[in-house]
Amino acid sequence: MLFLLGLQYFALVFSCMEAVQIFPTFKDYNKAKTDLLNLIESFKVNRDLPMIAGCVRLAFHDCIGKYKCDGCIDHTNRGNAGLKIITDRLNALYDATHKGKISRADFYALAAVVALTRSTFDAPVKYLGLKDFKVGRGDCETSPNQVQSVDPPKGIDGTRKTFKFFKDEFKFSVNEAVTILGAHTLGRCKLENSGFVGSWVDEQFSTVTQGPFTLAPTSVLDNAYYREIIDVVPWIQVTINGTQKQWQEPDSPIPNDRLPESNRTSLLLNSDMANSWIIEPIDKSGSVLCSPASQTVQCSPAAHRQAFRKQYSVHSAAHRQAFRFARDNALWVKEFTEVFNRMIEMNRYVLKKAPTK
Ligand code: HEM
Repeated sequence: MLFLLGLQYFALVFSCMEAVQIFPTFKDYNKAKTDLLNLIESFKVNRDLPMIAGCVRLAFHDCIGKYKCDGCIDHTNRGNAGLKIITDRLNALYDATHKGKISRADFYALAAVVALTRSTFDAPVKYLGLKDFKVGRGDCETSPNQVQSVDPPKGIDGTRKTFKFFKDEFKFSVNEAVTILGAHTLGRCKLENSGFVGSWVDEQFSTVTQGPFTLAPTSVLDNAYYREIIDVVPWIQVTINGTQKQWQEPDSPIPNDRLPESNRTSLLLNSDMANSWIIEPIDKSGSVLCSPASQTVQCSPAAHRQAFRKQYSVHSAAHRQAFRFARDNALWVKEFTEVFNRMIEMNRYVLKKAPTK
C-alpha cells in the first residue's frame, strides 16, 4: 500500500514538472534569437554594445543559488547591482512577445549565448556555442524576482575564497574557474554598482583591429584578459572612492575614479589576480600585504611559507592555466564555450537540444 502511494506521489510530481517545462517550437526559438540580437544591437555606445557584457553577467548571476539557472534575480542583493537595467530590457521583450513560448530562464541563457556569438563577428576566433544550446529550463516560482539563496562572489575576495565559490556552487575545478573568469574580457565595473571603476581590457591586447565598424575590446570575446594578467606585471593596488581596492597598471597609480573615462587604465579585481597569484586580503577593503611583482615576491603569510618551502614562485595553482590561455586564444575560446555551456545548463530539469527544424 505504502509502495503504491509512493508511486502515485512520484507520478504526480513528475506530471507537474512536465506541465511547467516549456520546449519552444523551431519558429518560436528562431524568433527569440532574432529578437534578442536586435535588442543587443539597439543599444550602441560608440563602438560598444553594452548589452553583450550585461547579458553574459546576467547568465552567470542567474545560475547562482539553489535552483541554478532559473530566470530569477534578487535585485535587493548588492552583488546583483547593475543587472536591473539588463533584466528590465529583456523582460519587456519577453513579456510582450515570448512569454509562454520559451521559459524566462531559457530566454536569459539564450540572450547570453546570442551576445557571445555577436561578440566575435569581427574576431579571428569565433564563438560557436549557440549550436549546442539546450532548452527546457524551469523558472523559479517567483520569476523574474526572487530572494537569492547564495550571495554572488565579491571582487575583493582572494585566491582561496574565489576558487572555493566555483567549487561549492558549480563543482568547477580551479582550471574550469580560471576558464570561465575570462568572461571579464567583456564589459566594465561601475562605481555606482560594485564600487570598482574601469574595464579589464583595452585596445592594447584586443584581437580586433580598431576601426569605425569593429566592436570595442569590451564587447569582444577573446583572450585579452589573460594577456593583461600575465603580461602586465607588476600590477599595483589603488583605493577607489576611499574605500575599496582594485589593481591598475603600473604606470597608472591614480585611481580610475579620479580620472576622466578616456584616461582610465585597465583594472583587475583581487578575484582576477587569483588567476595568477596567491593573494589573501587582510581587511574589508581588500588590501594585500604586497604587490605581485616577480616570481618570488611574497604576498601573504601563506604565500610566504609556500615560497620559502619551495624556493620558487608564489603563483597560484591557476597560473599555468591562465598562462596557456594567454598564449592561445583559440584554445581559450573552445574551453570557455564548453565550461560556459555547462554552467548555463544547470537546472532542476533535464534539458533538450534546441529545435533545428
Ligand atoms: C569570482 C567571481 C566573480 C567576481 C568576483 C565578479 C565580479 C564582478 C564585478 C565586481 C563586476 C562589475 C559590476 C559592475 O560594477 O557593474 C563584474 C562584471 C562582469 N562580470 Fe563578473 N565576477 C565574477 C565572475 C564572473 C563570471 C563567471 C562571469 C561570466 C561567466 C562574469 C561576467 C561578468 C561580465 C561580462 C561583467 C561586465 C558587466 C557589464 O559590463 O555590464 N563574471 N563582475
